[in-house]
Amino acid sequence: MTTQTPSVEKQRFGQLPDGRKVEAYHLRNGHGIDMTVITYGGIITSLRTPDAQGNVDDIVLGFDSLEGYRSDAYRQSNPYFGALIGRYGNRIAEGRFMLDGTTYELATNDGPHHLHGGDKGFDKRLWQAHSFENDTGVGVELRYTSEDGEEGYPGRLDTRVTYTLTADDEVIIDYHATTDKATPVNLTQHSYFNLAGEGSGSIVDHRLMLNADAFTPVDDTLIPTGELRDVAGTPFDFRDATPIGARIGEENTQLVYGQGYDHNFVLVRDDASAGELVTAARVVAPQSGRVLEIATTEPGIQFYSGNFLDGTLIGKGGDAYEKRSGFALETQHFPDSPNQAGFPSTILAPGETYESRTVWRFSTQRDDNAS
Ligand code: GLA
Repeated sequence: MTTQTPSVEKQRFGQLPDGRKVEAYHLRNGHGIDMTVITYGGIITSLRTPDAQGNVDDIVLGFDSLEGYRSDAYRQSNPYFGALIGRYGNRIAEGRFMLDGTTYELATNDGPHHLHGGDKGFDKRLWQAHSFENDTGVGVELRYTSEDGEEGYPGRLDTRVTYTLTADDEVIIDYHATTDKATPVNLTQHSYFNLAGEGSGSIVDHRLMLNADAFTPVDDTLIPTGELRDVAGTPFDFRDATPIGARIGEENTQLVYGQGYDHNFVLVRDDASAGELVTAARVVAPQSGRVLEIATTEPGIQFYSGNFLDGTLIGKGGDAYEKRSGFALETQHFPDSPNQAGFPSTILAPGETYESRTVWRFSTQRDDNAS
């Protein structure tokens, strides 16, 4: 592989109906990895990495035009491909929570529930951006101010997210936010990976390790019951790397509710305290030998096995995105925390700073079975 200089290049990506321009930032790490981030939704539209033979493929689902992310078909299925999610990743039951004696009503966009920030979450907003190069790598910083009352949330939230692509083949995602009124905040990134290359088929052969002893079971509308359930002896035990598809068809009420995996896993921290990076997940694609490792400061990770993809969306490579053609691993606080006294708090108060970091590390291995 030839070594090049790391670089960032900005290009026009498209235009919103109100005339605002959407830019794309192309980041290259000089080591064979490149990614593209757009200012609409902070979406990662492409991420190209070498496989074990050195062949480079795009390993995230998405589109190469703005229209792809704004078409009626896209909005209907609403998969949140590659996007930044806020103000609250995952669900808040019935779009309602009580804080300091006041009941807040949020937009409901998932049956009776609030999902991924509401009707127009951070994934559908235009972010201010600038690129940077520093000792760690090349990157783009995105800023978005969510006004008081937006989608029903209290407080004006100033949000800043940076993506850094490092020479060590990592993507570091740093999230910061401040508010002028207490509000729930739970930011995440919703990329769908297929480590054999986007559009290449199902991800059920990928071997997944999750550093979780417990998960948060849900009701039939995917709201957590409040229980932290031991994964031992269940299809949710990924402590040893296991193919995603090995147990996905088992008779299991939780798998029926999610139509597969769509669950929050409780990460093991050992001695690492809240706010320190711990390994959350490791995924290996057997054919390509690509490996993705995820570390995070968050307490949980949502593993979503692409169950709602149904082939109606045609991706950038011309292939239909069928059920399970990508998976998402969304580092996060637990779903519905504002209504769950037993879960770690997601409330950000004025004067505090929300800070969260997630690192994706890319590598390859040649032996399919070594995990
Ligand atoms: C999250 C949710 C899923 C689904 C996907 C996007 O993973 O938990 O239920 O909404 O996002 O389709």
